[in-house]
Amino acid sequence: MHNRERGRFITLEGGEGAGKTTNMRYIAERLRAAGARVVETREPGGTPLAENIRGLLLESSHDSMHPDTELLLMFAARAQHLHERVLPALARGEWVLCDRFTDATYAYQGGGRQLDMQRIAQLEAWVQQGFEPCRTLLFDLPVEIGLQRAGERGTLDRFEREERAFFERVREVYLQRAKTYPERFRVLDAGETLSEVRRRLDLLIDELLDS
Ligand SMILES: Nc1ncnc2c1ncn2[C@@H]1O[C@H](COP(=O)(O)OP(=O)(O)OP(=O)(O)O)[C@@H](O)[C@H]1O
Ligand SMILES: [Mg+2]
Repeated sequence: MHNRERGRFITLEGGEGAGKTTNMRYIAERLRAAGARVVETREPGGTPLAENIRGLLLESSHDSMHPDTELLLMFAARAQHLHERVLPALARGEWVLCDRFTDATYAYQGGGRQLDMQRIAQLEAWVQQGFEPCRTLLFDLPVEIGLQRAGERGTLDRFEREERAFFERVREVYLQRAKTYPERFRVLDAGETLSEVRRRLDLLIDELLDS
């Protein structure tokens, strides 16, 4: 039985240039065509205040930012986004598509910055109170290709300036989490052509609409 009245929280994850932003639009269109009301948002950001925090996080001149500051700002932005935007939309029965969420914090601050995963888990429990995505789509791509794709956009933000090993750790943590939480995650090979990625997405969208 189709259940199209209930809102779902779907997150898109993956490294630089993996296709999250490009495909979020596609997924939103498909869901709307099926009659769903859809909110498209992103983290860090998604509300005016949280977008300001995003600005602080990405500003490349902030190269002295301590990793703890970075982690706390990520969760500060997340708290605002959840309470102001995500939870109210879900309560109205809307679908929320979010470009990056807490898995990105584990991947970037835990993997990339090598912060203690337990600390991240503590902040997650505090801010989210057990709330998590219904489904997480992981766009997996070799680091080299992703950086090439993202690099074509021009200026680099504070994260994009990191070394190659940073992004390898990010990818590893994402894949590890997908393995640990197989019911929530679906992994897409983002190295395929866009039309192939979308063929796979169509199946995943049908799965969501039918569940
Ligand atoms: N499967 C694909 N094949 C070839 N090019 C792609 C594919 N998916 C996305 N691209 C292109 O790669 C670039 C980066 O894609 P996109 O901005 O969607 O990535 P992203 O995951 O949002 O990256 P970021 O994390 O840096 O925001 C875009 O120019 C997009 O058109
Ligand atoms: Mg993007």
